[in-house]
Amino acid sequence: MKTLDIISQPESPLTKKSTKLDSFVGNTPLYPIQNLDIKEDVKVFAKLEWQQFGGSVKTRAAYRIIQDAIERGELTEGKHLLDASSGNTGIAYAHIGAALGIPVTLCLPENASEERKQILRSLDVNLKLTSRAGGTDEAQEVAKEIYEQNPSQYYYADQYSNPSNWKAHYDTTGPEILDQTNYDVTHFIAGLGTTGTFTGTGRFLKTYKQEIELIALQPDIAMHGLEGWKHLETAHTPAIFDDSVADVMQTVSTEEAHETMKLAAQKEGLLISPSSAANLAGALRLARQLEEGTIVTLFPDDSSKYGEVTNQLFK
Ligand SMILES: Cc1ncc(COP(=O)(O)O)c(C=O)c1O
Repeated sequence: MKTLDIISQPESPLTKKSTKLDSFVGNTPLYPIQNLDIKEDVKVFAKLEWQQFGGSVKTRAAYRIIQDAIERGELTEGKHLLDASSGNTGIAYAHIGAALGIPVTLCLPENASEERKQILRSLDVNLKLTSRAGGTDEAQEVAKEIYEQNPSQYYYADQYSNPSNWKAHYDTTGPEILDQTNYDVTHFIAGLGTTGTFTGTGRFLKTYKQEIELIALQPDIAMHGLEGWKHLETAHTPAIFDDSVADVMQTVSTEEAHETMKLAAQKEGLLISPSSAANLAGALRLARQLEEGTIVTLFPDDSSKYGEVTNQLFK
């Protein structure tokens, strides 16, 4: 009898390298908020997302986007990873790109802070600066144009439309939260940027238990200071956004977030970013309304990239 030889495709060098960082992505600690006058039967926890490779929550999405694109054969040796990001996703792409040998091109508004541009330059990113007035929406349009002019040179990641973004949270953040709370979480609350974190984590938690309440947060006005968040009424709605995921939508003001940054520093010893503080503000508001429950949120990053805010707040 004849046997069939199975001829396997040789693994590309990128595929081999793409899992190199697995143990340094995600698996962040769940920190109990302890000193902010929360009732005895109410618990508030936050995942310290800066404690992973690349320094923010966005490493989860960026890593998964890259891995999925390599697996589909869309991101191949020598191609540039291209996207629009003024902040943490760009920084995550840059760290991962440097570690895996993938060149990175990023479109970002010219008013992104000097600290951020310096980090990106240090990691050898090819920067295309777009106008301040156009914000991240214009940066997205420019990234798309660059891709369309030369599709063979780039893999356009498009984090706002890329399902790998929310799937990263469905497969990692959600399960980590269940595990770290011993399957005892009653509320998940987080802000919306690309919406990947909220959508992926929320969808996963609902598959475990429908009763877990999902609270989405937004800035209260269009011109806000909550870096990483989107004001959905006035900005482009990300294609991955699914408005059926949230049970409740609430707003947080920049002022409330800044006050909460001070509280977190003085009472908890945590130096957190404005969007982390906005998440905490939402969680504390909710905690005051409950008699019992376990509320989980995330701290997307720490305060180290927000000198323009901390210099004012902590004079
Ligand atoms: C500091 C910060 N907070 C919050 C978010 C929102 O996360 P997501 O894009 O998953 O909605 C981001 C996203 O870039 C961010 O950088």
